[in-house]
Amino acid sequence: MRKLAAGNWKMNGTTGSLAEAMAVAAAHPDAAVELLICPPATLITAMATAATGTPLEVGGQDCHAAASGAHTGDISAAMLSDAGASYVILGHSERRTDHGETDALVRAKTEAAWAAGLTAIVCVGETLAERDAGRTLEVVGRQLDGSVPNGASGARLVIAYEPVWAIGTGKVPTTGQIAEVHDFLRARLDARFGEGVGRLVRLLYGGSVKPSNAAEIFAIRNVDGALVGGASLKAAEFSGIIAALEDSVG
Ligand code: 13P
Repeated sequence: MRKLAAGNWKMNGTTGSLAEAMAVAAAHPDAAVELLICPPATLITAMATAATGTPLEVGGQDCHAAASGAHTGDISAAMLSDAGASYVILGHSERRTDHGETDALVRAKTEAAWAAGLTAIVCVGETLAERDAGRTLEVVGRQLDGSVPNGASGARLVIAYEPVWAIGTGKVPTTGQIAEVHDFLRARLDARFGEGVGRLVRLLYGGSVKPSNAAEIFAIRNVDGALVGGASLKAAEFSGIIAALEDSVG
């Protein structure tokens, strides 16, 4: 299994920002880990074109569950693939909150992504109220079961554990809290899909990952990489996180 350093640019970036992505690619020409940036859809083609011949891969941040049709403003999985994406983030907490996305919808989107040949990064994570109520594992377990379709494989499924309260806040769970959730997710995938599949699905941690805390996070068992928001916008910061992930694989 190759570890994965993924950047989620969210609704940030215009043409001028491509230089940051290219600086990341240039800094890791022989990357020992997989490198991915998910820019806004408007930049996918330009980034994928510029990244040709480098280790940098490009992904989308969402897709529609349908293959095509009358859905003004939406983008299909096949369109992302056609634009140069190989991955798509699905069920991010910001989509679940801003757009009311349910586990069932995320599952349908994941099926659409797979049908288009994309690898889906399915996001799960509890709110602070849910953690305080002792419901973290119940919540992420329900999200995992409901959002992941049958037929998962290590090649087409990545899970990102992103506690909602850690996103963009500078707050990070303890290493013990991250380990507990990642161990739980691994066991749940093993139970549903078999260990031969479960152990190949990469489990990313996301939420306030920075160069300064990356090494500690990547040392946690069952953490196979990171999904990075704010720190992925600046090449120097994302590069520092990538270097920490490369160090963790030795
Ligand atoms: P931050 O790294 O900015 O906390 O965002 C995490 C995230 O939501 C990545 O998808």
